[in-house]
Amino acid sequence: MNIIIKRSEREVSRAAADHTAALIREKPDAVLGLATGATPLGTYRELIRMHGKGLDFSRIVTFNLDEYIGYGMDLSRPYSKDQSYARFMHEELFRHINIHRSNIHIPNGLADDPKEECRRYERRIRDAGGIDLQLLGIGRTGHWAFNEPGTPLDSRTHIQILSKKTLDDNFRLFFHRSGLEREMMPTRSITMGVGTILEARSLLMIATGKRKASITAAALEGEITSSLTASAVQLFKGPATVLLDRGAAFALQKR
Ligand code: F6R
Repeated sequence: MNIIIKRSEREVSRAAADHTAALIREKPDAVLGLATGATPLGTYRELIRMHGKGLDFSRIVTFNLDEYIGYGMDLSRPYSKDQSYARFMHEELFRHINIHRSNIHIPNGLADDPKEECRRYERRIRDAGGIDLQLLGIGRTGHWAFNEPGTPLDSRTHIQILSKKTLDDNFRLFFHRSGLEREMMPTRSITMGVGTILEARSLLMIATGKRKASITAAALEGEITSSLTASAVQLFKGPATVLLDRGAAFALQKR
């Protein structure tokens, strides 16, 4: 695991975008695993800027980590009202680059049979030849994707009940804009499992800000445990790059 500490969130975003762009240039039909949330926003902005300078996404295939059950892209509503991760990705990245719609994969939170959707998602990843680079954030519960504490480290794509802490964070960051009351937030999601994530050929984990410091230190330096699913990064066999700003790196002991 290669831990890189940058001076600011902006530098983390630039480095994450450079890392991703290097793969895209080397392998123009790469399969990227993508994340949502506040952390990757700067990275996506940088990738959009690079696309403006010629970075080509026309053969890139993507798989997102997760989606809320009951949610899917609703273009009839303004972005602020549609809190699906599909809409987030559309607004924050996909509509600004030359990616093909058919190459974009996000778990369908509107599927009639969410369990079958989980199986279908696993099959799609396999059929695409697996993920070359998985981008990851870390939640304050230590989750990777929506793998909340207690999720087995060999889990596959599954239905996940979200913790109160995760719901509070996502309400504060995003859902409050939709006009929904906190109590009305979706509490279930479809998420790639930890085992699914560990099958990617490389990982790029990013964390920024002091509020992520203690959980980041526990994930990178503490016990490997299903109580903190991002600790599975220590099990990863391939190349894993961890990009932190000074705030998120604040509690690391071994540096
Ligand atoms: C999102 C995801 C989550 C987030 C995590 C951090 O697709 O998989 O694991 O990466 O909740 O969220 P932010 O970046 O909003 O702090």
